[in-house]
Amino acid sequence: MADAQIGGSGERPAEASASPADETISAGAPAEVGVRFEVDGEIATVTLCRPEKRNAQTPAMWSALARFGENLPEQVRIVVVRGEGPSFSAGLDLSLLTGAPGQRSFSEIAALDDAALERLIAESQRGFLWLRRPEIVSIAVVQGHAIGAGFQLALACDLRIVAEDAKFCMKEPALGLVPDLTGTKPLVELVGLPRAIEMCLTARTVDAAEAARYGLAERVVPAGDLDRAVHELVTSLLAIDRHAAAATKRLLLGARQRTLEEQAAAERSEQMIRLRTLFSAPAPRGSA
Ligand code: CAA
Repeated sequence: MADAQIGGSGERPAEASASPADETISAGAPAEVGVRFEVDGEIATVTLCRPEKRNAQTPAMWSALARFGENLPEQVRIVVVRGEGPSFSAGLDLSLLTGAPGQRSFSEIAALDDAALERLIAESQRGFLWLRRPEIVSIAVVQGHAIGAGFQLALACDLRIVAEDAKFCMKEPALGLVPDLTGTKPLVELVGLPRAIEMCLTARTVDAAEAARYGLAERVVPAGDLDRAVHELVTSLLAIDRHAAAATKRLLLGARQRTLEEQAAAERSEQMIRLRTLFSAPAPRGSA
């Protein structure tokens, strides 16, 4: 297993590098900021590695995540996201509310002008958005607590395999904030609007069994069986042709936004590419 080379060239989107808030979110060496990245052939593993702080998250971690996503080796098809220790992630590092060494406090961040503040949040969100790419399937492996940003990281993944002791909580509203790490859309899509309102606006904790009932977990297993469950899922996913998998995920991702007719057209268009690729038929003359 090799450590992925990320961001070594310092390549970042121009929008982010121009941000006056950049120093707040610049990633150091990933392991130092509390996240480790490994690539083993077609499988990448992202591991939050601050177990002593229950994998509490910082903007530097989100920035490192974004850079890993931007530099993901092309062969990677599966991204497994895990947290070391008893909790998947206890969410935002609460020391940021008051100010921690090397990080701006929330009161300093709140004093940024609108454009800088918007860029700062967008940069944080970039750490989560890439996990939905059609070319990969992302799997969150959740044990113990997934609170706030931890819950949103699990929601950013395509699939969730959870231990029986998993506990989900969207804590942000209880702190006077909103969930802003891209979690609100998948939450509503998975559990429905009324349940999402109830969960977020009470900030209550949802256990693994309830999470499975709401569609927040594809599988619930004893903690000791997590690795085996992940291995089984990854093996099944890798057994499918990568191009067919990416095309199908593209179709599924777009299904909610399209009408039935539009979706049927999208299916035709993806299938034509598959048929021509698989059976090597040249495009008939006169086709676009
Ligand atoms: N930030 C910083 N440190 C944290 C932390 C957090 N979110 N969560 C836990 N820790 C630290 C604790 O301070 C403690 O550190 P010390 O040993 O140095 O005292 C260590 O991790 C272990 O914590 P506990 O002893 O509390 O562990 P536990 O297993 O008994 O409880 C827990 C685990 C239920 C997650 C509990 O620690 C907890 O409730 N943490 C706070 C959760 C929280 O409110 N997170 C914010 C969510 S909102 C959000 O995420 C906002 C956003 O995105 C914008």
